Amino acid sequence: MAEVIIALDVPGADEARALLGRIGDLGDFYKVGLELYTRAGPDFVQELHRAGKRVFLDLKLHDIPNTVASAVRAAADLDVDLLTIHAAGGPAMLQAAADAASGTGLRLLAVTVLTSLDADALSEVWGRPAPDVSAEVRRLTGMVRDAGVDGVVCSAGEAPRVRTDHGRDFLVVTPGIRPTGTDVGDQRRVATPAEAARAGADYLVLGRAVTRAEKPGAALASVLAEVAAAAV
Ligand code: C5P
Repeated sequence: MAEVIIALDVPGADEARALLGRIGDLGDFYKVGLELYTRAGPDFVQELHRAGKRVFLDLKLHDIPNTVASAVRAAADLDVDLLTIHAAGGPAMLQAAADAASGTGLRLLAVTVLTSLDADALSEVWGRPAPDVSAEVRRLTGMVRDAGVDGVVCSAGEAPRVRTDHGRDFLVVTPGIRPTGTDVGDQRRVATPAEAARAGADYLVLGRAVTRAEKPGAALASVLAEVAAAAV
């Protein structure tokens, strides 16, 4: 069954601790992203580990192969479970990252196309007519798999295709999750928890729909129930 990861998109350690307290024991896997890591760093990752939580370090690394490989080794030393890199860094960077993670407990995920980008935004970035986003995700995923990276981050809409192409042991992580009735915000390619679970995602990343809910613990409980119901 798909697992839920909560995105700790908060300014610092104090806010993250407060959120953890409001979410309670139901939350056991947390994503530390650029904002929180920049403020609270490895100390806060270790604090999460001491509290028995698993950590997804979402740094979306994108640099020359040597620099990314060194950062992957540093993340592996932190004992995090998951780390993101950008597929757009290219085959040499992906391969260097995969080699650096090999033999450690760290599983690497490549971001294919950010879920905040739609076809129009992509065509602006790439400077060519609006490409089909799914085709682009599929092409990039093939490159990621060939480089030996463990999985991808993609939208729930693209997840079934990734599953069909690459099978069960390739990790699929889907952000852009919006329970019915919640605000879409800046995301473009969104899905409900049930849709993402049925699409074959291993992990659903839940951000604002849980963290900005009036009762985050209750919001998470309802997402978990929806995922469980979708699995039967
Ligand atoms: O608040 P929301 O549910 O939109 O948060 C989604 C989280 O997933 C954010 O932390 C964002 O950085 C992350 N993410 C994403 N799209 C990707 C990779 C990660 O939205 N392709």
